[in-house]
Amino acid sequence: MAQQRSLLGFFLFGFLCFICLPAEAALKKYQFDVKLSNVSRLCHAKQMVTVNGGFPGPTIYAREGDRVQINVTNYVQYNLSIHWHGLKQYRNGWADGPAYITQCPIQTGKSYVYDFNITGQRGTLWWHAHILWLRATVYGAIVILPQQGTPFPFPQPDREEVVILGEWWNADVEKVETQGNALGLPPNMSDAHTINGKPGPLFPCSEKYTFAMEVEKGKTYLLRIINAALNDELFFALANHTFTVVEIDAVYTKPFSTEAILIAPGQTTNVLVRANQVPGRYFMAARPFMDAPISVDNKTATAIFQYKGIPETVLPKLPTLPAQNDSDFALSYNAKLKSLNTPKYPANVPLNVDRHLLFTIGLGMNPCPTCINGTRLTASLNNISFIMPQTALLQSHYFNIKGVYTLDFPDKPPTPFNFTGAPLTANLRTNLGTRISKVAFNSTVEIVIQDTNLLSVESHPFHLHGFNFFVVGTGIGNFDPKKDPAKYNLIDPIERNTVGVPTGGWTAIRFRADNPGVWFFHCHLELHTGWGLKTAFLVEDGPGSDHNILPPPKDLPSC
Ligand code: C2O
Repeated sequence: MAQQRSLLGFFLFGFLCFICLPAEAALKKYQFDVKLSNVSRLCHAKQMVTVNGGFPGPTIYAREGDRVQINVTNYVQYNLSIHWHGLKQYRNGWADGPAYITQCPIQTGKSYVYDFNITGQRGTLWWHAHILWLRATVYGAIVILPQQGTPFPFPQPDREEVVILGEWWNADVEKVETQGNALGLPPNMSDAHTINGKPGPLFPCSEKYTFAMEVEKGKTYLLRIINAALNDELFFALANHTFTVVEIDAVYTKPFSTEAILIAPGQTTNVLVRANQVPGRYFMAARPFMDAPISVDNKTATAIFQYKGIPETVLPKLPTLPAQNDSDFALSYNAKLKSLNTPKYPANVPLNVDRHLLFTIGLGMNPCPTCINGTRLTASLNNISFIMPQTALLQSHYFNIKGVYTLDFPDKPPTPFNFTGAPLTANLRTNLGTRISKVAFNSTVEIVIQDTNLLSVESHPFHLHGFNFFVVGTGIGNFDPKKDPAKYNLIDPIERNTVGVPTGGWTAIRFRADNPGVWFFHCHLELHTGWGLKTAFLVEDGPGSDHNILPPPKDLPSC
């Protein structure tokens, strides 16, 4: 009895202490050496830019509330910067990383410490180089565990695994990019997709470049899936097994089960999968989704879900992925994504909008005397192709350096037209400029991102730095400002940092501009980012010094 009581007292004490003491925030330090490494895939060896020699690079592990310091040292010939995709970086754009937006790139031989707190976010995010096409090889996962003692809002998995989808070029990716730009055409598409850096046994010389995870019958696994591909939206599935989606872009979702997921470049998806099939070997597979008349690298990357004790001689089974152009799957899958929206994880959707923006996505053609057709393919928002500045926008704003950008990015397209009517192939010239929008602190913003048929319709994954946004509505065709807002979901829309605008359609997002700084907004298809499909928001400081941009770190690189 006495023993029982002291046991009870012990538990009570432990419980009380757990609620009275805030979870201990830790400092997590990492060293990233950006260096050339020899990597070989598909019977081709090449030297490529890596972090610490890894492909993918190291996973950052932290807990919600931690402070993270990553010292990046650049040993390669390219000046570069690294972006922590999806981290909000409150007041701390200095640690966000897009080159020439929030910082000048880190020069060869130099270092820079990305120093940030992880506040109010938990789940899977990722990091990648944010200049040129270097993110083809410079990327890795960020795993943010909930605070100590806080469980997941879904059944505890027995084990978890990071699954990063990527692309592989046999050639040097920077040469591929430079060559495309010189011709004014899209650079050569990738030679393979990869899962954790490995294309899998359907490719030549790839037996040993196959990712396999060993599982035990009856156990549940959490897969942290990341699309780090440059240019391809991907379907991903596991033969005979069903996924339960529980989180995307580090936001918990209402769980739902699905045979396959759709994931665009920049997005992350956490799924639970139960090893409940006849013990064997099953392929996980990734292949592009493309429902516009545009060619993609349509090859299938595979990895193996390997039940313990099954010999490697057993041939794995392939999953049935949706057809490459299965728009219906894409639309219905995205419609299933809903915020968890519980008291602990509420969906704080802005109900009133201070600023309404309509941004049209266009492909275009600008004159280029040295290009192969005398023209260069380009892309634009509201007919503006963004020109990268020579110095970083955030520094220019903070230190009041004039002449770097203009604050006249238009709130709507210059001339309305039937955006998604017949393809428009004439007069495809765009305006050039480093034009951005100024947004008042704490105001609420709605952006309707509208695809157009300038040259071709296409699906575009749009990413906003510095914030999550709510996807309040989406549709095919032209956005109707009179009818469509009535159909918005303002209760439990999905909250995320990257959203696919459907081919020939529109997506409406809302966010509260409570994070002062300069925040990039761009298509996460690297091809289109490079062509100018990007702009930025300058969010003004709020009242009082604790709503202002933090002072810059001493080691901030200069241009
Ligand atoms: Cu993941 Cu601005 O990018």
